[in-house]
Amino acid sequence: MNISKNKYISKIGILPVIVFLFIFLSCSAANEKYDNYIKNNPTKYEEVKFQYNEYDINNGEKKFISLTCSNCHSKENKKIIGPGLKNIYKKGDNYILRSILYPDEYILEGYKNLMPKIYKNENRKDIEDIIAYIKTFK
Ligand code: HEC
Repeated sequence: MNISKNKYISKIGILPVIVFLFIFLSCSAANEKYDNYIKNNPTKYEEVKFQYNEYDINNGEKKFISLTCSNCHSKENKKIIGPGLKNIYKKGDNYILRSILYPDEYILEGYKNLMPKIYKNENRKDIEDIIAYIKTFK
């Protein structure tokens, strides 16, 4: 009798531990999901905001060439490897910034995922200058 009572108590004793473990594990699974979500949705990152208020369009023009954008993008509608950037300003600053920093976040219909994924490591001012420059393509 005593023994079975003890067994009962130890079962009850273990229950909160199991419940705790369950909650803990499901929380860390949720955190992992959240981390993946953030990774796959970098628009949630602070860094997708513009960091400068002033632009140097001449520097943007130079960097558009030296960072090889011009190898794949024309100023007109003409497709090279990437789409022509005429009227790109209409898609909005944030879209343009994201397209450059995270090209595989959204793949334009009719194109392949060929844009280099390196520009998020470039000098941010240069990238923002490039944006000011390509927005002049009209
Ligand atoms: C190797 C070729 C290549 C290089 C270099 C390249 N891109 Fe691209 N780019 C692409 C391709 C292909 C797409 C379309 C596929 C996609 O959406 O990722 C694209 C898409 C874009 C878009 C979105 C266009 C739209 O109409 O939605 C922008 C903006 C852009 N690139 C800007 C740039 C800038 C600025 C640079 C230089 C810093 C650059 N690209 C360098 C190939 C390139």
